[in-house]
Amino acid sequence: MHMTAAYADELTRWEYPHPYDRYSMLDTDPSEFLDPTSHFLALVDAAGELAGFRSFGRDGQVPGGTYDDSALDMGGGLRPDLTGRGLGGAAIQLGIDYAWENFDIQKLRVTVWQENKRALKVLSALGFQSLDRFVATTTQEEYQILTLARR
Ligand SMILES: CC(C)(COP(=O)(O)OP(=O)(O)OC[C@H]1O[C@@H](n2cnc3c(N)ncnc32)[C@H](O)[C@@H]1OP(=O)(O)O)[C@@H](O)C(=O)NCCC(=O)NCCS
Repeated sequence: MHMTAAYADELTRWEYPHPYDRYSMLDTDPSEFLDPTSHFLALVDAAGELAGFRSFGRDGQVPGGTYDDSALDMGGGLRPDLTGRGLGGAAIQLGIDYAWENFDIQKLRVTVWQENKRALKVLSALGFQSLDRFVATTTQEEYQILTLARR
């Protein structure tokens, strides 16, 4: 479902343990999650609890990467306590299905910190292929850009 102000507030309290703390959203202005240029999607469980999110657009880009209009950037994450339990593949697949249904695009693109082996493993299993590597201008760390073509 679409992001709501209440879910956006909740996201600002999400904190991931090291080394994934770079993905924590503490201190983020909740209005960023409601910004239409990043088209945030809330992944909600049967009880209405926020279990994850996906974003489509600018949020999925990392400064220093080369991005063109040939693909739509997807970002996102599972709620911190749900990570490491084999749930990520299904969450990302929901985002993929949503993108093919709702956007007139032929390719999805994700940008992942090179040491996030967990994410890279899940993305590779879903068919994403590595396209490029670059060093982020903000953190000087290496990132990988992967893409998935519509079938
Ligand atoms: C990235 C994310 C979607 C992965 O989903 P997940 O459900 O946590 O991942 P899984 O538990 O399915 O683990 C995936 C694989 O990585 C492996 N793995 C975990 N930690 C690892 C590590 N440090 N090195 C290598 N492999 C690792 C797991 O053993 C598993 O392997 P398997 O598929 O052979 O069993 C999820 O952790 C997430 O949303 N994290 C939020 C923060 C984040 O990383 N954001 C960036 C998203 S691009």
